[in-house]
Amino acid sequence: MLKISVMNAKGGCGKTTIATNLASYCASLGYTTALFDYDKQASSTRWLKDRPSSRPPIHGVAAFEPPPAGTTRAWQMRIPHNTRYVITDTPAGCGLVDIEDRVAEADIILIPVLPSSIDIHSTADFIRDLLLVGKARAHNTGLAIVTNRTRIRTKAVEKLERFIKKLDIPVVARIRDTQHYVSAAGQGLGIHEMIERDAQRDRVTWAELLYWLENNRDGFTDFEYTRLQELIA
Ligand SMILES: Nc1ncnc2c1ncn2[C@@H]1O[C@H](COP(=O)(O)OP(=O)(O)OP(=O)(O)O)[C@@H](O)[C@H]1O
Ligand SMILES: [Mg+2]
Repeated sequence: MLKISVMNAKGGCGKTTIATNLASYCASLGYTTALFDYDKQASSTRWLKDRPSSRPPIHGVAAFEPPPAGTTRAWQMRIPHNTRYVITDTPAGCGLVDIEDRVAEADIILIPVLPSSIDIHSTADFIRDLLLVGKARAHNTGLAIVTNRTRIRTKAVEKLERFIKKLDIPVVARIRDTQHYVSAAGQGLGIHEMIERDAQRDRVTWAELLYWLENNRDGFTDFEYTRLQELIA
């Protein structure tokens, strides 16, 4: 089982988009997948409610809620016995205690970041907190960055790339800025489940991300990255 937590204290950077798209991608490959929602905005939980029953199922846990009356927290948090992926969506503004709990549970923390100065600064603060907690717990949870809403070669993207280079944390996916993510979100789908041809090319992004999660958690070399793109294309 692989437990992946999508975290960044900065709001609106794409945590829910990544959690839901990764969950639907894993499920569509036939893997038993669970999606935990720790955000009381309940965006992932709502997405799951909108998900058509004809689509590969995902086991949802509204972890932000207290256990239903007469049940225990353990009962609420149970997952199917053959679960392969546990994906966790987390709220904006999470504090050190939340970070500590999620880090303790996860094998990998995916950190979405947008190409904007405000997001870069907030993400730097968040990563500092993450490393503090990580050190305190001596827990070797893997950290990985996912850049979101990137448009090729804008000044903001260049600034983001410079920031990431200094961090020494691998970038494991680059998510395109497209309205298909917005429409998929409204239908309980992942972008790869959309019928538009233009949306289908984004399947590669999720295939690459899952490949990295499974095979190469130390990060890709440039050569591996290019080769992988050739293989998946
Ligand atoms: N790559 C993208 N292209 C276009 N729109 C996107 C993309 N990623 C996210 N969005 C849109 O941006 C908004 C914020 O994204 P999302 O809800 O995933 O962020 P979040 O980090 O979960 O936010 P919050 O901190 O409020 O939980 C949503 O409307 C989403 O559909
Ligand atoms: Mg969210």
